[in-house]
Amino acid sequence: MKKYALILAAGKGTRMRTELPKCAFPILGKPMIEYIVENIEKTDIDEIIAIVGHKKEVIQNILKDRVQYAIQEQILGTGHAVLSAAPLLEGKEGTTFILPGDMPLMEYPLMDKLMRAHEEMGNDLTVVTMIMEYPKGYGRIVRDEYGTVKGIVEENDCTESEKHIKEVNSSVYIVNNKALFETLKLIKKNERKGEYYLTDIVALMHQTYKVNTFIVRNAMVTMGINDLYSISIAEKYLRDSINKSHMLSGVSMVNPETITIGHNVVIEEGVWIYPNTSIIGNSVIKKGAIIGPNSEVRDSFIDEGAEIRHSLIIESRVGKKTTVGPFAHLRGHANIGDHNRIGNFVEVKNSTTGFDTKAAHLAYIGDAVVGDRVNFGCGSITVNYDGVKKHKTLIGNDVFIGCNVNMVAPIEISDNVFIAAGSTVTKDIPKGSLAIARNQQINKEDYYKFLIKPKPTEEKH
Ligand code: UD1
Ligand code: CA
Repeated sequence: MKKYALILAAGKGTRMRTELPKCAFPILGKPMIEYIVENIEKTDIDEIIAIVGHKKEVIQNILKDRVQYAIQEQILGTGHAVLSAAPLLEGKEGTTFILPGDMPLMEYPLMDKLMRAHEEMGNDLTVVTMIMEYPKGYGRIVRDEYGTVKGIVEENDCTESEKHIKEVNSSVYIVNNKALFETLKLIKKNERKGEYYLTDIVALMHQTYKVNTFIVRNAMVTMGINDLYSISIAEKYLRDSINKSHMLSGVSMVNPETITIGHNVVIEEGVWIYPNTSIIGNSVIKKGAIIGPNSEVRDSFIDEGAEIRHSLIIESRVGKKTTVGPFAHLRGHANIGDHNRIGNFVEVKNSTTGFDTKAAHLAYIGDAVVGDRVNFGCGSITVNYDGVKKHKTLIGNDVFIGCNVNMVAPIEISDNVFIAAGSTVTKDIPKGSLAIARNQQINKEDYYKFLIKPKPTEEKH
């Protein structure tokens, strides 16, 4: 039997009050809907269909061709949303796993478990529910006197007594595909909201089909995100669980509640992470590295034993035993070699450095290829931009660059070169030379004597 997943992601997310459509909103730096798709991809589901509508380009741009799309032209409710997948699914044999696009915390082992339970119970429809101490905002599960589920009532339509029901609808359903599309057509518009509610399939199916519930124990993982406050709750939950799993695999975290590690980050054991640090995107931190405090590492590779303090590292690579910071900025494919030192207020962009190279303070290295054992003096910079184009600086091995040196690119500086402090070099420098490119010093002797005007003598009484 074929298995389909349907993700509902066409809604506006009005309660979010954000420009970004809700399902595209990031949690720990990654769009909510990506979590869902990533997890579904790990199950044995054959086809994934995302239902998109409001700002569909944004969602499509995130998921690209990882899923198929069904377009909901008008946003007329969750039942209407699923019906828009009819051109792709109607009449097909199989099981359909319906998930809302605003439920990022459910992971694939639970998805597998739900689908297995659905098969084992021989259900036509399994409604995934949870027990909430404060059920406000969720659809309530209504059961008959035998405990059989007979319907779902949305908050707005609840009677006073129904409001007290603590079992709620997670909006996750596993359903026989043919029965689903037959039933969807029977849903009537909810007059109060003017929407077609997917929840109505329960009342419509329970007499003729086998409808059952599956109560999920950890209600957090089926939490629906509706506003920015629930985003913060989901982030906290995810942050804690990610941090915990790293700590249990040998990563030390000081004050972990201030540390954010993205879902896809790989951290080896023996790494120390200090407060107020976030490591996100596709970052890898190798054994024994030290990151933080107050640092951000995004889409970067930090090799064994490197130290990153009070710094920002974006799409870059830091070699073994290299120290970065405090207050350094690596970006746009900075590729720093082993045993380097990138110190205070140093920025490196789109450049490669060799072994044991140092830029300890106040330097800018942009669009450069730098060799081994190069020393950048304080205030030395690659002048890579002429106002129109970016140019390359090539620096060999064992080069000593004095303080406040401007290297005007394009320029090639060969091995064993010295550049005198304060030079602005514009021409290539051959191997082994000392380059001096500054005005000669003039000392005007006895200048002080001329400068000081004799004081007028006053008449003495
Ligand atoms: C829905 C359920 C509610 C359940 C809750 C769980 C309905 C009527 N209500 O309420 O029983 O307890 O989820 O979180 O189903 N969407 C579309 N097209 C639409 C409307 C919504 O694709 O026309 C998508 C949204 O993008 C969202 C999902 O469906 O991802 C759920 O919509 P939302 O408005 O958040 O439903 P809730 O009010 O939370
Ligand atoms: Ca919701």
